[in-house]
Amino acid sequence: MKGKKAHVITYGCQQNENDSERIRGILLDMGYTTIDTNDDADLIIFNTCAVRDNAEQRVYGNIGALRNLKDKKPHMLIGVCGCMTQQQHVADYIKKRFSHVDFVFGTHAIYKLPQILYSAAEQRVFDLEEMEGIVENLPHNRESSVVATVSVMYGCNNFCTYCIVPYVRGRERSRKPEDIIKEVEGLAAQGYKEVTLLGQNVNSYSELPFSQLLNMVSEVSGIERIRFISSHPKDITNELIDTIAENPKVCKSLHLPFQAGSSKVLADMNRRYTKERYLEIIKSLKEKVPNIALTSDVIVGFPTETNEDFEHTLDVVRQVEFDMLFTFIYSKRKGTPAEKMEFALPAEEIKKNFDRLVSLQTEISARKNKALEGTVQKVLVEGYSKNNKEFLTGRTDGGKIVNFPEDKSLIGDIVGVKITNSAPWWLAGEVVTYN
Ligand code: SAM
Ligand code: SF4
Ligand code: F3S
Repeated sequence: MKGKKAHVITYGCQQNENDSERIRGILLDMGYTTIDTNDDADLIIFNTCAVRDNAEQRVYGNIGALRNLKDKKPHMLIGVCGCMTQQQHVADYIKKRFSHVDFVFGTHAIYKLPQILYSAAEQRVFDLEEMEGIVENLPHNRESSVVATVSVMYGCNNFCTYCIVPYVRGRERSRKPEDIIKEVEGLAAQGYKEVTLLGQNVNSYSELPFSQLLNMVSEVSGIERIRFISSHPKDITNELIDTIAENPKVCKSLHLPFQAGSSKVLADMNRRYTKERYLEIIKSLKEKVPNIALTSDVIVGFPTETNEDFEHTLDVVRQVEFDMLFTFIYSKRKGTPAEKMEFALPAEEIKKNFDRLVSLQTEISARKNKALEGTVQKVLVEGYSKNNKEFLTGRTDGGKIVNFPEDKSLIGDIVGVKITNSAPWWLAGEVVTYN
């Protein structure tokens, strides 16, 4: 494959980003170089997300748009993988509808990519094999040289009634602590400063209490910051809260999806906590970690959600005052229990509720960021800002994005940035203290 060019396009969450880094690692080992455009590519791989319908429609649109390019360059291989294609009905649809797609594989088959590519040069390949184990030691071609994600567990056992993830990522499988530590040590040796431990529900990590794993990772010298995503409220322990409070390397931030404010809707979602329990966890977090930055995921318009239920979502947002929220309109997923539920509200009403939630959160985020103006924040410098190369960008301990003018190569350092300007989703400032 020497000299051939590959373009890997990623949709979805950090798990998929991490998978794409491994796909690129395998391709580089095979002799490919990786590029960021389709036109010059000899290989295009779509690593897809199935969590909502709009993500799926975007992928179909982009696959369809490649038909002409494939006609001009018949030797070019096009493949689709990831969460969408782990579903048989999607693989069947792609097979029928997009004859220019050469290969399809699911979330369990990344390690087989070389074989799949060799076979796809001869005939179309559809490989949705499921696998219970974990394949260690796949090569990894990481996006950043400063911050890295490390998967600690795969899959999900929670079966929230709206969610496709357990069907496309399989049952929970935890990596051995020694494999995780070895990976983190390798990252530290390469100069990485921050790791984010990844899993659909990291606090149901099964090899050890998750707080213990955090403490072990924090002992790796060179790693200065540790984050983790996502946590499920039903599995939050006092030990975890204490570890966030006490371990200086564990960032003072938590992403804790609450999904809905109404306890009735939470029960219909099979979330296994109530509004009261969620608020209790937040109270304990705020008591033990006073400056904790909190973020969450919320779904608006779950089928059984009424306007009265939705008021509880607004109430949670007002009480907690999250730093940031990821807000989603419910999307029906084939094969999930919620697919069969009747909608309590029409689509226009759901959209109105969604807009109310977004404007409430925008106001809270703007206010919280404004309050940081004039303060000095410790920022780990990740690299150049995507939009303006005269600026560097990094994150505060709480995970907020900070942009500031480049003055010398600070990438990889933790610097003190005085915040001079803010918006709901970012901060800006100037470096006042160096490492
Ligand atoms: N495992 C993580 C958790 O439980 O927090 C993340 C799950 S998912 C990858 C990310 C978010 O997508 C969820 O927290 C949820 O808010 C949202 N989501 C999942 N299924 C959805 C659906 N059918 N419609 C709309 N949003 C959905
Ligand atoms: Fe989906 Fe629930 Fe699992 Fe998160 S915990 S991935 S929302 S089923
Ligand atoms: Fe992630 Fe989407 Fe799959 S959110 S786990 S890439 S369905």
